[in-house]
Amino acid sequence: MTAVSDERASDEARPGTITRAFATPVARIGCPFGDQLNGPLTDLVLRRLGLVENKFSYKSETSADMASWCEPVVDSLTGWVLQTAREFVETVGGHPLSAVFTASRARDANTFNTAASDRVDLSSEEVTVAASRSWASVYRRGDQHPAHFHPNTAIAAIYYVHGPGSCELDLIDPRSNVDYFDPGILFAGEGQNIRLRCVPGELVLFPGWLKHSVPRFDGDGVRISLSWNLVYSLRSPQTG
Ligand SMILES: [Fe+2]
Repeated sequence: MTAVSDERASDEARPGTITRAFATPVARIGCPFGDQLNGPLTDLVLRRLGLVENKFSYKSETSADMASWCEPVVDSLTGWVLQTAREFVETVGGHPLSAVFTASRARDANTFNTAASDRVDLSSEEVTVAASRSWASVYRRGDQHPAHFHPNTAIAAIYYVHGPGSCELDLIDPRSNVDYFDPGILFAGEGQNIRLRCVPGELVLFPGWLKHSVPRFDGDGVRISLSWNLVYSLRSPQTG
């Protein structure tokens, strides 16, 4: 019996193979110019936080949307985040973004038995990754963020700007029934949440439906991260 690493292998499954089904793609990428941005970003976020602070019981956020700040340092980072998220989806999907998008829409049409005449022709649309919302989060000693997900979001993006040590992020096992019954042997990592220990300058990307949380922050000073809710945007090519 042979273990295979990817559920896509099930397309060509043969007797005697084991497929690890329902893997969740999570990317961690270091920003090549993060060292130059993190100092100015730290000053900027703390300044913006003083202007408008959404002080929740568990952390503080700047007002959305970071694009409205018109700050070149933020716009530069956002451009890199959008490009990196695009490469993430293309790498997982195995094709250019437009092809991955069209294939997904075609699959949906087949699933819901949409008549061919009712299907929207997307072949001429340009697909891009865009930010629907973005904000900065500041954690001080004792702050934390309970498990949550990002509704109406294709890809959640988090960039770490500042922290006294590593910035911890817990990814919650998304298989909804894993806690229902303990068979005695957990052979598929059931219920084992994954703790990422990220460093300033690192970007994390994952599907918006994946629940995550920030464990209690007990460091000195502040822990600062930036978040973007990313979606796919359709744009018709410009005509002369
Ligand atoms: Fe979140």
